[in-house]
Amino acid sequence: PLIQRSDYQAPAYWIRTADLTFDLDGAKTIVASKLQIERNTDLPVQALRLHGEDLNLLRVLIDGQSVSFRHEDGLLVLDAPEANSFVLEIRNTIAPEKNTQLSGLYASGSGLFTQCEAEGFRRITYFLDRPDVMAVYSVTLRADKKKFPVLLSNGNLVEQGDLDAGRHYAKWSDPFPKPSYLFAVVAADLVAREQWVRTRSGKDHLLQIFVKRGDLEKTEHAMNSLIASIVWDEARFKLPLDLERFMIVAVDDFNMGAMENKGLNLFNTKYVLATPATATDADFDGIESVVAHEYFHNWTGNRITCRDWFQLSLKEGLTVFRDQEFSRDMTGSASARAVCRIGDVRRLREVQFAEDAGPMAHPVRPEAYQAIDNFYTATVYEKGAEVVRMMHTLVGREGFAAGMALYFQRHDGQAVTCDDFAQAMADANPSSHLATSLDVFKRWYAQAGTPRLTARGEFNAEAGSYTLTLRQHSTPGAAPQLLPVSVALFGRDGSAQPLQLAHESGAAGTERVLVMTRAEHRFTFTGLTGEVVPSLLRDFSAPVVLDDGLSDADLLVLLAHDTDAFNRWEASQRLATSRLLAAAASSQPTAVDAAYVQALRSVLRHPDLDPAFKDLALTLPSARFLMEAMEGVDPQALHAAREHLLDQLAEQLHEDWAWAWTAHQVREGYSPVPAQSGRRALANLALAMLVRDARRSGDTVWPGRAYQRCKDATNMTDRLGALTALVYAHAELAEPALQRFHAQFQHDPLVLDKWFMLQAGAPERDGKVFARVRQLLQHPDFTLNNPNRARALLFTWDTNPAAFHRSDAAGYVLWAEKVLEMDSVNPQLASRFARGLDRWRNLAETYRNAAREAISRVAAAPKLSSDAREIIDRALQD
Ligand code: ARG
Ligand code: ZN
Repeated sequence: PLIQRSDYQAPAYWIRTADLTFDLDGAKTIVASKLQIERNTDLPVQALRLHGEDLNLLRVLIDGQSVSFRHEDGLLVLDAPEANSFVLEIRNTIAPEKNTQLSGLYASGSGLFTQCEAEGFRRITYFLDRPDVMAVYSVTLRADKKKFPVLLSNGNLVEQGDLDAGRHYAKWSDPFPKPSYLFAVVAADLVAREQWVRTRSGKDHLLQIFVKRGDLEKTEHAMNSLIASIVWDEARFKLPLDLERFMIVAVDDFNMGAMENKGLNLFNTKYVLATPATATDADFDGIESVVAHEYFHNWTGNRITCRDWFQLSLKEGLTVFRDQEFSRDMTGSASARAVCRIGDVRRLREVQFAEDAGPMAHPVRPEAYQAIDNFYTATVYEKGAEVVRMMHTLVGREGFAAGMALYFQRHDGQAVTCDDFAQAMADANPSSHLATSLDVFKRWYAQAGTPRLTARGEFNAEAGSYTLTLRQHSTPGAAPQLLPVSVALFGRDGSAQPLQLAHESGAAGTERVLVMTRAEHRFTFTGLTGEVVPSLLRDFSAPVVLDDGLSDADLLVLLAHDTDAFNRWEASQRLATSRLLAAAASSQPTAVDAAYVQALRSVLRHPDLDPAFKDLALTLPSARFLMEAMEGVDPQALHAAREHLLDQLAEQLHEDWAWAWTAHQVREGYSPVPAQSGRRALANLALAMLVRDARRSGDTVWPGRAYQRCKDATNMTDRLGALTALVYAHAELAEPALQRFHAQFQHDPLVLDKWFMLQAGAPERDGKVFARVRQLLQHPDFTLNNPNRARALLFTWDTNPAAFHRSDAAGYVLWAEKVLEMDSVNPQLASRFARGLDRWRNLAETYRNAAREAISRVAAAPKLSSDAREIIDRALQD
């Protein structure tokens, strides 16, 4: 059944308070719920329909009297009670240990945990499980004290004590009304790192991070990130911590990254636990950003929530924007900020642009869904964040802060829509382009697909003017969108030119934002003395595909001189992309041109550029990105072309890589700060290239160094960097190094995930990676029951083009098998994995036919969850 945005109706009843008692037990938990309910008198009198899933109902009372009920379309239906206000009591049981979907109350290790977003609360008890029904919760937890010494729920602990028979209890009460998706319970054997903080108001707050015994020393970075987030939100947006106690709990088995339950965030251990010996620089960054993300939800998500799930981007797009801004502010330097931006855009283009071009394409505010869990997507999150970022560009930093203030003034405590947010932003900035073209801007919420922007410039030597014509091509049926296009012009010598528009007077700067609201605009800049190279869409000012028609010579000017680090990086990627696409289309191995190699050498040897930037500029675009720039993709040919270019760069820049490795060693003690991580990244890239080149030259020195580094590295970034170099390019030394690594870390699940990931993501040669994946599926450490482990092996493999898209179709056969196997365990996970063939229509014919067959096989399975069904049906739709 398809749920439509246009069908929204206010709830027929409100739940004002929820008084819940849990007798917690892995095999059978008893839930007693007492709800104060009021009829919504705006609507005609109607039956009370409650959501419920996989529940065992024991009794139903209204105002103390037992009443009759029926089950209809998966809902529990009670005839409308006489009174407009009444107390509903429900008693039911659930079986957490049987809950392998990890939605609702489930067991992980020896503990019990909840995940309620989006619709998990209905798997705990009958309820109006929708975000616009907000209740004040009080919760009593009872459990065996030995097995479950820690009992947590949202809000404040009001009472705790012992019961007989070795049991104990805790009572929690959350003063903030909240939707059921923000409810949480934890019962487990945990320990906590604790820290008191005083916020600007002078109030003291207790921060706690709960983890398994033995993991406490791995929580320092998460705690520091939490404190930094609290300080940042108060400084940048005047949004203070509103709770006496803020808790984070880490859990091994978790479908997503983390969850912002009010006052009791639940986290995938991946985003909490880190020490230099077990986590990479990227892991440390991931923790900082996810801790911030969940913390920021306390205002953008919890204080103001979504009216319905179509509005998901209201909280997710905005909160991603906020966590991106936080991460940038935390870096402390302009070039490190650019590095953050490049990383964000890389993900957006690899994942979201592909999504927007495939069968799961949907607007930032979707119109219809079968399973809402399928719409926690790159479009809702990352494109949604770009939409918020464009608003920020249009109204400026101060204007944006004013818009946020107005948003909270109007809507604090409410469940609202994306329109409400955009309106507050516009109303706070009445003379901005956002306000004057609000309807055009809001097409970003309504239209799917990635707009294409074409730019062509013409220099008029006589007039000393340059005319820039911008044209946007939306997807078929879509109207023009509002595009902020940040622009600068550079002379051929690399000097930034003044941007004087023909009709304007006053001093001209060297960078400005042109705002498009129509399909075509023309801008004429005057006062120019020579040919210019345009630098467009600086800092990636709008999420579009740009065709600016620049020549290699133009791109080399930007690569050498652009003052916008993003566009400087972009020039490097464009130079690589055109070469890779040409090579993939040709049947001969293509020799790389000297000008390009020399340009990369200049970047690598540049005296002023940041090592982190150099690492990004010297890293070739991923196959995933390139596949989106092609039609009728032959993944094997693309992979071969990319490998061949890497081999040539490894050889021709050999001396430069050797210099880079030596020059970027970090000698001081480990810290995950940009000043160090950039050097490690570049040194590891250099090492990988040097070991790669040894395949050609037979050199043993660099592979030997990598092998030694695998043994004696003092941090995980360097250890994994060296191991990666071997696994990617040195079959003999890779084996003992992998074995050693496994033996050393076999008791650390997060590190073992890296071990699986590394092998599944290695460059395919002669089908060895695919064979290895098959082997690893049988490894005693592999299981589909732990999402992180399943992702580490299977999701890494199905995004590894040449190991997945095989000419013998064996990859697709295995894919279909695993989709079905996963679906019977964990539908949310299965439907994510099923998306691995989203872009099958864009493949070359033989792959396409084999892919269609595999998808059809899944479609024909007798039992498929509605999650997986939606993905598979959409994939096959014309
Ligand atoms: N709200 C969470 C976050 O973005 C994600 C929860 C998603 N859960 C799900 N079942 N889809 O931080
Ligand atoms: Zn979120």
